[in-house]
Amino acid sequence: MSRLVCVSNRISLPRRGATPGGLAVGVLAAMREQGGLWFGWSGETSADTAARTQVAVRDQISFATIDLTQTLYDRYYRGFCNTTLWPLFHYLTDRFRYDHEWHDAYRTVNRQFAERLVPLLEPGDRIWIHDYHLIPLARELRELGVTQPIGFFLHIPFPHLEVLRLLPAYAEVVRDLTHYDLIGFQTEPDELSFRASLAGVYPEGAPAVRSGVFPIGIDVDAVAAEASAAMRTEPVRRMVDGLLGRPLIIGVDRLDYSKGLVERFTAYQLFLERHAELRGRLTYLQIAPLSRSDIQSYSQIRQALEQATGRTNGRFADTDWTPIRYLNRNFPHGTLMGFMRASQVGLVTPLRDGMNLVAKEFVAAQDPADPGALILSSLAGAARELTSAVIVNPYDLRGVAEAIAAAFAMPLAERQQRHAAMIEALRRHDLRGWYTDFLVSLEASRGLLR
Ligand code: G6P
Repeated sequence: MSRLVCVSNRISLPRRGATPGGLAVGVLAAMREQGGLWFGWSGETSADTAARTQVAVRDQISFATIDLTQTLYDRYYRGFCNTTLWPLFHYLTDRFRYDHEWHDAYRTVNRQFAERLVPLLEPGDRIWIHDYHLIPLARELRELGVTQPIGFFLHIPFPHLEVLRLLPAYAEVVRDLTHYDLIGFQTEPDELSFRASLAGVYPEGAPAVRSGVFPIGIDVDAVAAEASAAMRTEPVRRMVDGLLGRPLIIGVDRLDYSKGLVERFTAYQLFLERHAELRGRLTYLQIAPLSRSDIQSYSQIRQALEQATGRTNGRFADTDWTPIRYLNRNFPHGTLMGFMRASQVGLVTPLRDGMNLVAKEFVAAQDPADPGALILSSLAGAARELTSAVIVNPYDLRGVAEAIAAAFAMPLAERQQRHAAMIEALRRHDLRGWYTDFLVSLEASRGLLR
């Protein structure tokens, strides 16, 4: 079989301070099964960015990484990727900012990625590029003479054309995407938005571009096994002991404004106001490892959350009860799965999310005999599959507050029924299916287009 070459800005080699999202988990699984080369940013800045490509081999995967200069890191990563494209693609247009220099740096980094990748390529390779950081990469590679199949998967939403048009060079983004042999999206609405953008940018008829919907999933059995094994470990036992028998609500999110944490904390406070009878009877644990903390809107959200936690705890805490336990640290994956299994309610309320694997993991981590209930935002891609969750609009604070109360009151039979339906949905599109389907389609699209 031909070699798989994955390219993403973030790769899963451990780096201090970085919290991997769904992308790193998904690509790692594909690479573990298929072997091959994973190319991306080292996570480091240095003065001599053009000088060297570092290569490391682990578990049959070759990792090749390059550094960025501080200026490119500031303009490409903090600027164009995470202050322009990230908020725009998540429909959070009040956080969207644009700067010409950021856009130039985005083009420069994509060109550098292409120049550094080309010498590492072999004739039979399949190239799979991931996420919004690298949209122009196929065009750059083609300009350097690369003829191998190139696929692209967008892990975040693709916005409606009327939102995309806030970006001065929106047409360039759409045109760049047409250089891929296959473009994968998380959900149908994302693909439809892309198709509508193509029609908008090419009124006379767009070039033939293959696209498809490939919802990313999880390895259901592996998560279930990990969660149940973790229950016997010290960190999970300590956490459970600390609850003094009170049921637990859990949230696990990178500290990102798209995750709707401020709204969620406010909804929880409203829940305590409206349900005095439940005060002191349950605990909310929010794990929110820091992410992109050198970007202003991320440090602002951090402050807002600290204030909200202080307000709620100050107002409602008792000598032996803290309403919110808010932690900015990360835990090993297994421990998190154990925490989820020990929870009665999972709270996943992003303002917008491409998929959200935490929602899926929460379901798979539950004990089927006594499963917890999932409260899930209608604006997460996962809500299209997990229709048996308690679906909420994350902006509807009273709705979320009442969903918490309803989740606690939910009878065992209903929890079991919803859980079984959600497990079935998770098995329909699991992690292996995600990368296998994409790669099979990539090979097929090659034959069709050329
Ligand atoms: C999301 C994005 C990924 C990104 C991850 C972590 O999941 O879709 O592309 O890698 O967040 O963010 P970071 O900026 O630390 O790579």
